[in-house]
Amino acid sequence: MSNKTFTMIKPDAVANGHIGAILDHIIKGGFKITAMKYTYLTEQKAGQFYEVHKARPFYGELVEFMSSGPIVAAILEKDNAVEDFRKLIGATDPAKADKGTIRNLFAQSISANAIHGSDSDENAAIEGSFFFSSLEKF
Ligand code: RTP
Ligand code: MG
Repeated sequence: MSNKTFTMIKPDAVANGHIGAILDHIIKGGFKITAMKYTYLTEQKAGQFYEVHKARPFYGELVEFMSSGPIVAAILEKDNAVEDFRKLIGATDPAKADKGTIRNLFAQSISANAIHGSDSDENAAIEGSFFFSSLEKF
């Protein structure tokens, strides 16, 4: 078990002014931020990041949405980080997300679902390194 996960506050949540509230939720959930940047994904970079979903019907829509505006990318630290963070953000579809989860509070739809959380320790490491050099990780 690793103690790190990777997150992005997605373009919808940034555009709707939820960066501060979401970061507050993350910190109160017991996660320590060890790297963070306000940035954006070009279509090419978004396509690369979500390469694993290339064959899925929603891939085009996902890439278009993720490159539609700025995002906040961060590496988070906590015991059992990947699993605990998935619990904090809630189900992919906000209509199915438990009450009080980040997607329940801040997301509108399955595509504009406010936040990303890595699904495994291996992907957390790959995704963190996609955005941050070793000098930017604390
Ligand atoms: P994420 O990777 O963003 O944390 O989301 P997730 O694990 O909960 O969901 P995943 O299956 O990895 O899907 C990645 C993102 O693709 C969009 N999606 N759209 N239209 C659809 O049926 C559909 N299904 C997934 C969502 O934005 C999801 O977060
Ligand atoms: Mg996923």
